[in-house]
Amino acid sequence: MNIKGMLATKPIAAYQKEASEKSLKRALGVPALVAFGIGGIIGTGIFVLTGLAAAQHAGPAIVLSFVLAGVGCMFAGLCYSEFAAMVPVAGSAYAYSYATLGEFVAWFVGWNLILEYMMAASTVAVGWSRYFVKLLDHYGVNFIPPSLSSAPFEAGQTGFHVHATGAIVNLPAVAIVGAATWLCYKGIKESAFVNTIIVAIKVTIVLAVIVFGFKYINVANWHPYIPANTGTFGEFGLSGVAMASAIIFFAYIGFDGVSTVAQEAKNPQRDLPIGMLGSLAICTVLYILMSAVMTGLVPYTQLNDAAPVAVALESHPQLAWLSTWVIWGALFGLTSVIITMIIPQARIWLTMSRDGLLPKFFGAVHPKFRTPHVSTLITGVLAATFGGLLPIGILGELVSIGTLIAFIVVCLGIMVLRVTRPELKRPFRVWAVWFTAPMGVLFCAGMAYSLPTPTWVRLLVWSLIGIVVYAVYGYRNSRLRAPQES
Ligand code: ALA
Repeated sequence: MNIKGMLATKPIAAYQKEASEKSLKRALGVPALVAFGIGGIIGTGIFVLTGLAAAQHAGPAIVLSFVLAGVGCMFAGLCYSEFAAMVPVAGSAYAYSYATLGEFVAWFVGWNLILEYMMAASTVAVGWSRYFVKLLDHYGVNFIPPSLSSAPFEAGQTGFHVHATGAIVNLPAVAIVGAATWLCYKGIKESAFVNTIIVAIKVTIVLAVIVFGFKYINVANWHPYIPANTGTFGEFGLSGVAMASAIIFFAYIGFDGVSTVAQEAKNPQRDLPIGMLGSLAICTVLYILMSAVMTGLVPYTQLNDAAPVAVALESHPQLAWLSTWVIWGALFGLTSVIITMIIPQARIWLTMSRDGLLPKFFGAVHPKFRTPHVSTLITGVLAATFGGLLPIGILGELVSIGTLIAFIVVCLGIMVLRVTRPELKRPFRVWAVWFTAPMGVLFCAGMAYSLPTPTWVRLLVWSLIGIVVYAVYGYRNSRLRAPQES
């Protein structure tokens, strides 16, 4: 392997040519793209992590954590938008890196995007399974024995050891990934249609919590707003607010998925920025309001629960009726997250395969459905396997760190391209790029830094595996350095 080869960049013009190909179906307009973004964003983050982050780190100032993470995502979202409008290809951050920072960085980003999308689908499927069992319990019709609704392995204290739990498989998690995969296989239009309906339902339920809960806010619960630090980094105080923003960053993941359907958008240059920034703005407002209401309904110490929204609502008998709806909302919400995570993963693999960094079959497109069906199936099978068998809790933070790395590289790449190719036509230009992009790097790096050390160690292990795969396959088969074969 030589360094020059690893730093080779793919010409923007080559991606622009690919972007005009018509193999995938151009079926998505603005409403579908905004719904796609919201579909990916609202999920486990708001329904589960908010409570834990408030109870353990930020108190009522969890609202500030949502603002911090939202602002960081907005900086990154602006950079994504400039790239997506200029190079509207399915590879998203992977392709943007290939065009700016070279093949090795592109591979690294592509490898980490597996953490973001595929692992997120698995993680969220496990959350879905919990809510599904909860709903069956609620109606008194739980027919699934615990041995078939939880993982057969569990992580030990350190997160590096696993031990058997006695369970066989998490069947609901496997089933929901199976159903979502089938939908994504059948067509982008069908998937987008189902996603849009689900998004309408989950946004209505989030709005209902905000509107009905508002009346019962007790402002005394907002005091102290930032609980005093107890001495350890991240246990309350301002460092706690920062730590909580890294945890709830997970809640924002998904808007970037819009950039991966670039080749399925009707008017990508105009609509992708609207889809990404629009969905991000809507969800930021909803999150700020929802977390303010939750911490206003009960003292934050009581939110230390896997279903914190229900805890907040049930603390007021007049709101108890809403908590059943929240279970439904979460169940629907998580379903659309799974759909909108499988779709990006398949498209990124499609692009990587076309560049020769993955075997050819990853790039196959179904002749009738016009979806990357093989990549979709592989994503589904792997996500279902991880979701059904593995101790997935520890993977949640890996999802966040993988995503943050992609965000940082996109913010860096946009600056590189402004210097190296200032003349390129940019249908969307980041405002004040020399402020926005460095701030994107700073905010995302700050959140990544706040994640626990074991997460960094796992990232290192994951990256080393990635480097071996690149050395064994990608480097040797890259089409960029073997143009005669392409
Ligand atoms: N943002 C998505 C969620 O919170 C991944 O579930």
